[in-house]
Parts: sequence; structure tokens; C-alpha cells
Amino acid sequence: MRPTAALAPPKQLGKYEVGAKIGGGGMATVYIGRAVREDGVEERVALKVIRDELAHDEEFSSMFIDEAKILARLSHPNVIHTLEYGVTGHHRFIAMELLSGRTYSDVFDIMANNGERLDHKLAAWICARVADGLHSAHELLDEGGSPLSVIHRDVNPSNIFLVHGGDVKLIDFGLAKARVRLSKSADGIVKGKIPYLAPEQAHGKPIDRRIDVYALGTTLWETVTMKRLFKRDTDVDTLRAIRDAVVPDVREMIPGFPDPLWAIIQRALRHDRDERFATTEDMGKELDAFVGDSAPMKRDLAELLNHLFPGQEARQARWERAATSTRVAAHTMPPPAPVPIASSTILEDGDQPPASRSSTVSGPPPPSGRDEDDAAKSAPKTSKAKSRRSEPPPGQPERRKKKKNKSSHRRRAEDVAEPPTAAPRKLWVSVAVVIAIVVALWAIFGSAR
Ligand SMILES: Nc1ncnc2c1ncn2[C@@H]1O[C@H](COP(=O)(O)OP(=O)(O)O)[C@@H](O)[C@H]1O
Ligand SMILES: [Mg+2]
Repeated sequence: MRPTAALAPPKQLGKYEVGAKIGGGGMATVYIGRAVREDGVEERVALKVIRDELAHDEEFSSMFIDEAKILARLSHPNVIHTLEYGVTGHHRFIAMELLSGRTYSDVFDIMANNGERLDHKLAAWICARVADGLHSAHELLDEGGSPLSVIHRDVNPSNIFLVHGGDVKLIDFGLAKARVRLSKSADGIVKGKIPYLAPEQAHGKPIDRRIDVYALGTTLWETVTMKRLFKRDTDVDTLRAIRDAVVPDVREMIPGFPDPLWAIIQRALRHDRDERFATTEDMGKELDAFVGDSAPMKRDLAELLNHLFPGQEARQARWERAATSTRVAAHTMPPPAPVPIASSTILEDGDQPPASRSSTVSGPPPPSGRDEDDAAKSAPKTSKAKSRRSEPPPGQPERRKKKKNKSSHRRRAEDVAEPPTAAPRKLWVSVAVVIAIVVALWAIFGSAR
């Protein structure tokens, strides 16, 4: 596969002008996009584009578009809204509402590194919102009224987006089936976000919507404990842990952990799927019953994001304006927000199992998001930001430094083109001015003599 930096980003996708890159993983890249409506109002969107190598795979591409068609019919407050999909040249893309906020995995990483823990009710409420969004997708019908049997297949904290205002959106539906096709290994076992697979997937058995219930259960267990549940040093060990399905009792890890919430987690994580919640709707209802008064939750989430990423909402708005008001090459401006500060280590390969992860957690806080965001504010600061980011966070163990270098953020920082520095230019201008003055003085005084 060619590295991301080598790919020429598209300039135009459908009616959208393509701006800077805001995210992306193995199969697609997400850009900011802009269109000016007939009434003159500017519309900003997120454009998810299949990577070049995969766009030439006909089966993959048609799967992508088929799913996009389905998703365009899905309308739920907890699911990313698909505006349209299309093909421009060989680029297949989905245009989505542009979100401002952070992924749940960013929040997890920052809090774990700070040694902080999420409030149980807030974690339950976030998962309840995801459960609602998932249910609307699971229940989708085709034009003839037959179930479409949509399964997300990749529920995990990196695909849960927390919007600055306190909303929760499930993202990354568009490649669900295609992802499975690509990631099936020769023995039929599905690869991908292995730590969030259900036991039946680890056994290569047929799946249904209850794998999403299980993945949401894993997410909930991890976000209340701030530890990884099944992740081990190797994929083989991770798969083994999933097959064994041993779920440590959270009540023994956190004194006073509420029994009702533990019961919900346990039921979502039953090895036998017949014993799990039959639908995410059932799971969401129980979570909501546990939360009780949900009125303050949205505000609490907004406050948490503001606490973890102070001032970022305003910076992101400024960045979005800058990223779309002038046409920028996709690699010249690192985005301030959707890039995980702590590199989403929650999903990195080779991440540590729960026991060893805690040693990372006990370290000092990671570099502040503000530094990163400020660095992204203007292109001339980029090289400075780059060198700052390459420095280890003070006191962080060596292992963590290595992981950061593998992160998507690091990769993106490396993709960032070095802007031409102004210093040599200034020097030449100064030399030219001095020479001009000397010549003028010589001319004046020389001719006077
Ligand atoms: N609609 C959106 N608005 C803002 N950022 C987005 C949006 N969709 C995706 N992103 C950013 O792009 C990243 C990758 O998007 P995702 O759909 O999860 O693709 P992938 O298949 O690469 O995981 C997300 O983690 C998020 O930071
Ligand atoms: Mg994703």
C-alpha cells in the first residue's frame, strides 16, 4: 500500500471543494469540504473518501456506495447524518454533517493519562445514546418494508464522537461490510478492531446485531474502569481472551460500583448471545433507567469536553473557517481538533494489556491539547509544532513515546509539508539593503570629491 502522504487529495468531490484532511484510517480519508448554496450560504461538510488503492476494487467500491445509500436514509440524532454520496472521477465519497468535538477514545486516553475516571452515570448515558443510534440502524427497512439487517460491526470508542455541545454521535458506518471483506484473513477470522469483537466473531461464526451489543458492553466496561478489557500484547492473545470471555467484576475493582450498572455490563457481555440484550434498544432502556434524570447529562458532557480540551471549540471553528475559506492543499494544515492528542492508543496495535497500561496511567499528564491546537493555528508554526510534538512528554515512559510515534497523529504530523521558512529571505533582503546604502553613499561622497 502506498503511504497516505503520497496520495494526491481530490480537489473537488461533487459540489464540494475539498479542504484539509481531518482524519482517516486504513480504508478512507476524511476531509473538510465546502459548497456555496444557491442562496449564498456556505455549507461545510465532512467528506469521507475511499483510499485510492481501494477505489479501484470494484466490489469494494460498490459495497461502499450501497451502504452509503442505506445510511443516507438513516436519520437519528445519535447517528452521523449522511448528506449525500457520489463518485467523482475514481473517487467514491460520502458527504456527512461536519462535527466539532472529540472521539470517545481521545477522552479515554486523556483521562487515563491524567489518572481521572469518568463519572459512571455519564459513561452509562453516553452508551445509552449510542445504543439508541445503533437501534435505529439495526431496524432500518428497505423500500419494500423488509429488514435490511444493518450491523455496525465496528462499535468502539474511536467511532463514538462527542460533540462540543454535549451530543453523542455514532460514526463510521459507511465501510462496515466492506471492512469485513477486506479484513477477512485466509482462515475466515475477521480482523480489525479485535479487542471489540464478540466471541462468535472470534470463533468465525455467523453474526447478527448482537455483536454490536457486545462491543458496546466492552466499551462500557472500559470506560467505567479506564482499563482495557480484552486487549493483550498480541492479536492471538486478544482473540483468546475474547473466546474465554472472562469479564472481571467491576465492583471488585471500584469500591461502591453500583450493582445495577454492573448487571447491565454483564448482560451485554454474555458469551452466549441468547443471554445478551436482544437489542441495543433494550440495553439503552436499562442504561437510561440506571441514569435516572438524564437532563444534566448533555451539559455534563459539554463541561467535561471543555475541561479536557479548554478553548478548543472556538479554535476548531476558526480552523474550519481557515481550512475552507482559502483553498489549502490537504497536507499543509494539521487540524486542531479531530486529531487525537493522545493518539488514540486505545485502539493501537501493540497497546498494553490492562495490567501494564496502568503504569502508563500513573505517569504525568500528557502534553496539553492546547499546545497542539495552537500549533495548528497557523502554517508557519508548523515546524515548531512538529519538533515540539516529537519531544517526549516529560516523564513519560519510553514505551509510550514509541507508541506515540506510531499514532495517526504522528503520521499526520509527518505528512505536514514544511512551510518555507521566512528567515533566510529576511537575511537576503537585509544584505541587499546594506549594499544599496553603501553604493548610494559611495556615489554621493565619491562624486562630491
Ligand atoms: N463527520 C465528521 N465530522 C468531523 N470529524 C469526523 C467526521 N467523521 C469522521 N471524522 C474524523 O475522522 C476520523 C476517522 O473517521 P472514521 O469515519 O472513523 O473513519 P475510519 O474508517 O478511518 O476509522 C474520526 O475519528 C474523526 O476524528
Ligand atoms: Mg473509525
